Amino acid sequence: MTIQRVGVVGCGLMGSGIAETCARSGYDTLVREVNDELLRAGLERLEKSMGTAVSRGKLPAEEAEASRRRLRGTTSLEDLADRDLVIEAVVENVDEKRRVFAELDRICQPPTILASNTSSIPIIQMATATGRPGQILGMHFMNPVPVMKLVELVRCVTTSEATLDTARAFGESLGKRVIVAPDRAGFIVNLLLVPYLLEAIRALEAGVGTREDIDTGMVLGCGMPMGPLTLLDFVGLDTTYYIANIMFDEFKDPRYAPPPLLKQMVLAGFHGRKTGRGFYDYAAGEDRPA
Ligand code: CAA
Repeated sequence: MTIQRVGVVGCGLMGSGIAETCARSGYDTLVREVNDELLRAGLERLEKSMGTAVSRGKLPAEEAEASRRRLRGTTSLEDLADRDLVIEAVVENVDEKRRVFAELDRICQPPTILASNTSSIPIIQMATATGRPGQILGMHFMNPVPVMKLVELVRCVTTSEATLDTARAFGESLGKRVIVAPDRAGFIVNLLLVPYLLEAIRALEAGVGTREDIDTGMVLGCGMPMGPLTLLDFVGLDTTYYIANIMFDEFKDPRYAPPPLLKQMVLAGFHGRKTGRGFYDYAAGEDRPA
C-alpha cells in the first residue's frame, strides 16, 4: 500500500511536529484538534517551527509555501475518512487513546492504517479497540519531530507484515531512520531514557548536585545535547510523569517509579517549557546552563 493522504489526531507538541514533517515530505496532511483555539495554537507552533527551518537554511521558502498548501486543520474527526494513514498523538492516557482508535476505526476506510505515537502504552491496547488489529502499530516520533532523525515502529502481536512494511517505507520517506521495537511499555527509547531522567530527579532530590551541575555534568561530561533536567523541561514533566506511571504499572520495577518531586511539580503545574516553569524558570529568562 502507498500512503498519499495522512491524518494526524492532536496538534500539540508532537502532533504539530508530525504534521509539519509529513507536509514537508510531500504528503497531503490533515491535522485534527478538538476545538478552534487548540487548533490555532497548534498551527501557530507549526508555522513558527517551519519559519525557523527557513531562517536556518534547512527549508527553501518556496518549499515551505508548498508544504503550507499541503496542510489543513480541522476540528472534526469525520474529516479523516479519506486518509490512507492516521497517526494518533493525543494525551498519554489509555482510555482516551482507545476512544480515538474506536472512532477512527468507524470513520476510516477498511485499508487505512492507524498508528499511535504513544511513548509508552503497549499498542495491543489500541489494536483491541478496533476491528482491524492487523493494521495497527506504534509510530513513535521524537521531540522536536522535524529535527530528530528517528522513528521507532512498534509491532504488536496482531500487526501484519504488510502494515509494518508500509510504515517502514513511510518513515524512511520522512527522512527518518527506522527502528523496530517490541510491544513492551516504553519500547526501546523510553525503556532506557526514562530511568536516566528519573535518576536525575532523584539526584536533585538527594542533594547530589545543583540542577546546573547535574545538567552540565551530562552535557560536558558525556556529550549529551541537553542535560537531563533541561530535557525533562523540554519533553514535559506531565508527559514524563504519565510515562513513568505506565511503565511502573507494567513492570513494577522501582527504576520507573516517579520520584515524589516529579509528582509535586506536576501537581503544582510546573510542566516545563510549555507552562513557563519546570526545573528552570523560563519566564525569568533562565535556560539550560552553558
Ligand atoms: N526544522 C528543521 N531544522 C531545525 C529546526 C526546524 N524547525 N529547528 C532547528 N533545526 C536545526 C538547526 O538548523 C540545527 O541544524 P545544524 O546542526 O545542521 O546546524 C539543528 O536543528 C540544531 O538546532 P539548534 O542549533 O537551534 O539547537 P541546538 O543545537 O540547541 O539543538 C535540539 C536543539 C535539537 C533540540 C538539541 O538540543 C537536542 O537534540 N536535544 C535533545 C532532544 C531529545 O533528546 N529529544 C528526544 C526527547 S525524548 C522523546 O521525544 C521521546 C519521548 O517519548 C519522551
